[in-house]
Amino acid sequence: MNQLIARFPEQLKEALSIGRAATINPHSEALHNIYVAGLGGSGIGADFVNEFVRNECTIPFTIGKGYDIPATVGKNTLAIASSYSGNTEETLSSFEQIKTRGAKVVIISSGGKLIELAKEHGYDYIQVPGNWPSPRACLGFSLVQQLFVLYKLDLISEKTIQSVERSIDLLETEMEAIKADAKQVAERLDKKIPIIYTTDRMESVAVRLRQQINENSKMLCWHHVIPEMNHNELVGWRDHKEDWAVVYLRNADDHKRNAVRIDINKEIISKYADTIIEIYSKGNDLVEKAMYLVHYGDWITWYLSELHGVDSIEVDVIDYLKGELGKLG
Ligand code: F6R
Repeated sequence: MNQLIARFPEQLKEALSIGRAATINPHSEALHNIYVAGLGGSGIGADFVNEFVRNECTIPFTIGKGYDIPATVGKNTLAIASSYSGNTEETLSSFEQIKTRGAKVVIISSGGKLIELAKEHGYDYIQVPGNWPSPRACLGFSLVQQLFVLYKLDLISEKTIQSVERSIDLLETEMEAIKADAKQVAERLDKKIPIIYTTDRMESVAVRLRQQINENSKMLCWHHVIPEMNHNELVGWRDHKEDWAVVYLRNADDHKRNAVRIDINKEIISKYADTIIEIYSKGNDLVEKAMYLVHYGDWITWYLSELHGVDSIEVDVIDYLKGELGKLG
């Protein structure tokens, strides 16, 4: 996993060249909304894209992480099915429903049934390299391809894609410093339950870190966002618990009221949690900052897996669950 994480900047470069070369045909109808179906490591890319294009894309963007699609998916929808393996049953179930609605369909996958179905039905598809052992390590592929689909259908400008390109330099320059800092953070999180807080415009980064802690480090963890958590979860902080460790993911340009909220939160929570960690992003815009924090977080989860002596790649329990469901047909 450490080798896969180290290849993240290289993956982004490869993803950009795949995206540039992809052909996405125009739809016969005007596009009024976007729907992305995808689970786990193949669904999180959509969370990022949704946040990255929020200030530019003028049509609603929704994400489905289950079996059924909403009534809003119709002939005026851009519907993207994202599954690294191409065989995730919830995504396949969503795809079967999408097919019946006359939407503009695009598949993003490395192969499996989804690519077969795209070919069979003549849908546009982008095939990403299939030789990565772990879908969650392929965030760069799914995220960048979704941006290109939106760009090629004139739903966004090239601005966000250019930011992704710039983030490659940032990650390459900062990688060794990030690794050194991430190792120290991991040492403070060892044997604790991490609780991740960030602001609402960066929830995807917190979700990503939570999922990577779950899958790479084999640990439970939770996340919430400010300001919403100030209206509920904050009240739950009443008991001192030694094994809780709070991680704030911060940005120098967070909304100034949210920055104050975090400072006050910290003051309150420090009465109940012994470990409070603040990580500030680097980068010039939301995309660069998010990519920086993603990479930082990925390294934390790798160091945590080393400290726990667990195999960061294996997700046997997910495979077992998929296998058991597969037996039922
Ligand atoms: C495994 C992982 C999982 C998968 C998920 C969906 O590394 O991250 O969260 O991404 O089980 O499978 P795919 O990505 O093949 O659709």
